Amino acid sequence: MTQETSLLAFPPDESGGEAWLRYPRLCAADASALQALCTVNACPGAEAALSELDRALAGWGLPPRTDGDGLSLSLDPALPEEGFCISRPSPQQVRLAGGSPRGLLYGMFHLLRCVNCGLPLEGASAPAVPLRMINHWDNLVCDPVHGSIERVKGGDTIFDWTDLARPNPRYEEYARLLASVGLNATCLNNVNAEPEILSTDMIRGLAALASVFRPWGLRIFISVNFATPVLLGELDTADPLDARVQDWWRNKADEIYAAIPDFGGFVVKADSEGKPGPGTYGRNHVEGSACLARALAPHGGTLFWRTFVYGRNLADKLPDPKARADRANHATHEFMGLDGQFEENVILQIKCSAIDFQIWEPVHALFGKLSNTRMCVEFALTKEYSGLDVHMNWEGPYVSEILRSPLVAGRMDAVTAVANLNNSRNGFGHLLHGASLYTHGRLAWRPDADPRAVLDEYTVQMFGPEAGPAVSEMMADSYDTVASYTMPMGMTYISEFLHHFEPDPWANHDGAGITADGIGVDRTAATGSGYIGLYPPELAGRFEDPATCPLRCLLYFHHLPWTHSLPGGETLIQSLYDSYCGGVETVRGYRRQWRALHGQIDLERWAHVCEKLALKERHAERWRDLVCRFLEEISGIKDAQGRFDAPSVHNRVRSGYRQAFEDYRARVERERGVMRRKPI
Ligand code: GCU
Repeated sequence: MTQETSLLAFPPDESGGEAWLRYPRLCAADASALQALCTVNACPGAEAALSELDRALAGWGLPPRTDGDGLSLSLDPALPEEGFCISRPSPQQVRLAGGSPRGLLYGMFHLLRCVNCGLPLEGASAPAVPLRMINHWDNLVCDPVHGSIERVKGGDTIFDWTDLARPNPRYEEYARLLASVGLNATCLNNVNAEPEILSTDMIRGLAALASVFRPWGLRIFISVNFATPVLLGELDTADPLDARVQDWWRNKADEIYAAIPDFGGFVVKADSEGKPGPGTYGRNHVEGSACLARALAPHGGTLFWRTFVYGRNLADKLPDPKARADRANHATHEFMGLDGQFEENVILQIKCSAIDFQIWEPVHALFGKLSNTRMCVEFALTKEYSGLDVHMNWEGPYVSEILRSPLVAGRMDAVTAVANLNNSRNGFGHLLHGASLYTHGRLAWRPDADPRAVLDEYTVQMFGPEAGPAVSEMMADSYDTVASYTMPMGMTYISEFLHHFEPDPWANHDGAGITADGIGVDRTAATGSGYIGLYPPELAGRFEDPATCPLRCLLYFHHLPWTHSLPGGETLIQSLYDSYCGGVETVRGYRRQWRALHGQIDLERWAHVCEKLALKERHAERWRDLVCRFLEEISGIKDAQGRFDAPSVHNRVRSGYRQAFEDYRARVERERGVMRRKPI
């Protein structure tokens, strides 16, 4: 065979930009179902659903749809508003009913997914959670440290913030993608919000975007800065109890709703990481949120008030300095006493865990402390602290565990996640990280769904029925694998502090509770910071005892000596060494698994993942070598197999990033000094 003919055997190249909405030619499809989908009678309101059907028919190589009785689309007010029901009165007929045009749209995506995956078409479904959302951390102005999106690498913001109204075909593709997994809300800008998002120009642009998103059932939210009235130079205070401030927010909400009648509302990060908030004016979160919530309420808007606060003056609530020193305690103590006092349209947006998106970090205790407050759980698809766009990392098992936790299950008004979408060729930076968005949407819709089944749907749609299962096999435990070579057993925070990507244990090990005598943070009720005591008794009991505490969060809750004996008989330190080494071996296995798919997947997507996995292996080795050498140094206990005796290509990082940050700050200050001396 000549090289030319062998290359022709590859499936045609794909950029990955369509993600799972590919609609490839189907080999083993149900022929009568496909035939049914070509002749359609549809009710009004089915336009978006029909346009998706048209795309699918074209992709599958079928003739364009004609009028007929194969597929009928109708509205059924007896169904839940976003729900749908699909039946098959005969092999040649498919009936899709929706509770509303949105229900029809979700039903259509379901139908097409079932055809693509070879699953039975019949069934009914409705979302378990009313608001299913993503939060972009996109900056209006590119940030010198984080770029155009905070915590996202591998691509820039997809939104043209200089002119949001400028038409861009990518916006509709974006809305389709979110709708296809049942997401119905998007917050477009960074929680560290710039005040200009509320300028009149920006509102005009948001209105243009809203009209592109509307047919796809997607409502817009924006993050706002609590001090906007001051920062835009319109008032001299943002005190929520000041009548001028209340008027300001009311007028702003009226202006927005005049332009965007179905505007979703605001997301607010207040009194957090240096951001202004009610605390700036001696007010609490109830008073602060009420001011904005009352402005939105007449229009049916929702206020997401984030609870990610720490490091504030909590001396009255947490008199014990040991408890106060543990950031995990802060948000729970700040908010639990306010239960039941928030306005009806306020939803507290609570990170899934108490510190900050640490790998396998246990569910946030605050969920269990609120019974009369509406809540939203916030995840991160961005893989902050867990490999960004370099390390293949599917967090489905973790997300599922949090959603099924008794503190969260059935109690959420909304589920959200920090979005990992960007303007890279495949939309995510790492092609396989589309799996995170896919899983987020599907689990927000049905939090008790089996995450592995969701992954299988994704991989079959991405790579077809032959290669799909092998890709699932490779990705299924990837979250555990990242944990094993970065922060195993509930270790936290040993990455550099600027980008949270490189290992930097020499500079950052306090958060992991690493001392000469042992490792882990004592959060027990008996001797530690008391965080465990904030959980309901059943969970607290399990976490409090190292013997019953799950291994994957052992060091999150307990400070243990290096020689502590684990259930398998190994010492803690030796099992950490083994974990790091085992993790690297698993990554090597992933590379072999992926290489075996050569020829089954188009060359462009295959080569992209190959390259990403090679980078992952190198970086996993780096984590292993740096952290294990650090652990040997600080514990004085060598790996039993002497695996770190030979020199490593990886140098110590030793606060390299901190130094870079200081250099940058010094430079800015120098330049400002020069500027100041210039005559005006
Ligand atoms: C983390 C993250 C920040 C982000 C913050 C938040 O601290 O590193 O970039 O702004 O969370 O969620 O508000």
